[in-house]
Amino acid sequence: MAYGRIPETFIDDVLLRTDIVDLIDSRVKLKKAGKNYSACCPFHREKTPSFTVSREKQFYYCFGCGASGNAVSFVMEYDHKGFLDALRDLAGRVGLEVPDTRDPDAPPRESHQGLYDTLEAAAKYFEQQLRTHRDKQKAVGYFKKRGLTGEIAKHYRLGYAPAGWDNLLGALGKPDDARQALLATGLVIKREESNRVYDAMRDRVIFPIRDFRGRVIAFGGRVLTDEKPKYLNSPESPVFHKGQELYGLFEARQAPGKLERVIVVEGYMDVVALAQYGITYAVATLGTATSTTHIERLFRLVPEIVFCFDGDAAGLKAAWRALESALPALQDGKSASFLFLPADEDPDTLVRKEGKDRFVDRMRNEAEPLADFMIRHLSEGLRLESLEGRSRLAMLAKPLIATLPDGLYREMLLGRLAEVTRLETDMLRAAVLETAPLPAQRSSEPPRPAPAPEPETPRRPQARSPIQRQPRPIQQIQTVSLEARAVRLLLQDPKQAILTHAGELLEWGLDRDSLLVQLIELLQARPGISTPALLGVWQGTEQGEELGELAASEFLTPSEGVDREFKDVLRGLQLAAKEAQLQAATELEAIARLKLEVEQLKRSLVQKLE
Ligand code: UTP
Ligand code: MN
Repeated sequence: MAYGRIPETFIDDVLLRTDIVDLIDSRVKLKKAGKNYSACCPFHREKTPSFTVSREKQFYYCFGCGASGNAVSFVMEYDHKGFLDALRDLAGRVGLEVPDTRDPDAPPRESHQGLYDTLEAAAKYFEQQLRTHRDKQKAVGYFKKRGLTGEIAKHYRLGYAPAGWDNLLGALGKPDDARQALLATGLVIKREESNRVYDAMRDRVIFPIRDFRGRVIAFGGRVLTDEKPKYLNSPESPVFHKGQELYGLFEARQAPGKLERVIVVEGYMDVVALAQYGITYAVATLGTATSTTHIERLFRLVPEIVFCFDGDAAGLKAAWRALESALPALQDGKSASFLFLPADEDPDTLVRKEGKDRFVDRMRNEAEPLADFMIRHLSEGLRLESLEGRSRLAMLAKPLIATLPDGLYREMLLGRLAEVTRLETDMLRAAVLETAPLPAQRSSEPPRPAPAPEPETPRRPQARSPIQRQPRPIQQIQTVSLEARAVRLLLQDPKQAILTHAGELLEWGLDRDSLLVQLIELLQARPGISTPALLGVWQGTEQGEELGELAASEFLTPSEGVDREFKDVLRGLQLAAKEAQLQAATELEAIARLKLEVEQLKRSLVQKLE
């Protein structure tokens, strides 16, 4: 059925208001056992209780049969309901109604005005402390030391959270609803054991994060010394989604004149320092990778993005990920380039050392166009003099180019690739189209072909082209269970997705439409997303069913070891791909190389897969 997506904020609202202990206790009598609660498992027959519910984690797990999940999955399993019905039940219990996503006139989402008000009051409080607190000199001195003027501090609404456990709490948190709002924004933290509440930001300078309308939605706080953690950031909240917001974007749009380009940097201080030197169009992601959503958002405002990264290995890796995220957003007329800074410099240190003009020069003359960066990076380690090296380059580039929207940019890239590989453009185009989503589907959605999934509107499974309906190659059949395992491990420990390279999976023969690839991309874009929210994203699709099944078998095993297993499963996928290539290889040289690679992969597997 064609349901739209259930807003993730709604699912989170429901879960936030539901106590899993109360919920389960109303159906299966629970007994307190230490920190947790236990009972005989409702999902399998047993005489001694091995079913455990954790209030702290809002999760249940059966040591006997492995059943596990959260409030939504409990209702799904126990009452034999689908996701939507289960959610509806739970929502009803806490007085909410699932928005009817099929109805364009559905009532607007619950207002978050209370949160916005509290966040604004907190921003004002921190600003005021910077001017009036007895220790203000500490913070003012820090900003001065970093070269900022009062004017720029005011423009970015910088502030100071004084030392102490309850300054903000004391100033704003007296009324109960204000305290609840402070908790919901993460500005105030509750210690579970003692129920004590305290300020999250203590003795830090404060960077308020504002949304496109200028509303304060979160904060970053930096220590004044070399202590760790250097920055504290607000957690995800109903009004703050890291994977979508960009620090400094609102301020950049306030600057006089039309915004023509944006430079994406890594840190809060980089944004502010660049503005101090007159480069008022810098923005930063908030400790997360640059997502396609970020980039689409920017391309709606400006035609040109310059990504700025450190010149080291980490910078290169981050840049490559930004490139992958940028490809689907490269509509005609848009351009992206990459500026790598000298070792040990960031935009903040560099602009202070060299000044505005030199920095702008670097952007103009040293930033590498996306197409150049892509081909240069993919060619690394390849011998382009050899036919094999060139066809390998084409193979590596193919799945990336397939993510670009149909248009001039893609044609240009194909042309460049044809030059370098000495292959025919037409042949390359045909190969790319084979891996790309259906052209017909694209033209039926003219404004936003968006071939890659993006968190707000993930692609639904589509009618498949004749090419894609062909029987799966053997290699893919063998990898199905590995793929499912990878998905299950990701549900257990979503942060594994951060270290994974979706491009590599495509190269190993996974379909761009496959659940694993889409899940990884979504998790990279929205690292904080909860399992039920994930299920909501795919609700009503075939993949949603697959995901639901896997989620229902998600284990609450200790997460140590997951990383290793996940790595092994990925190696297993790679191994299957190499073995298939080996089967098909005819040239002696290729056979020898593939054999070696297969052997190496087998040796690197920590544990046996099946
Ligand atoms: P950097 O450590 O490069 O920050 O981290 P920076 O802006 O250059 O910091 P200073 O003030 O000049 O020393 C870049 C970004 O990564 C996130 C923040 O968003 C930061 O701006 N980060 C960094 C954190 O979230 N937490 C940390 O502990 C460190
Ligand atoms: Mn810095």
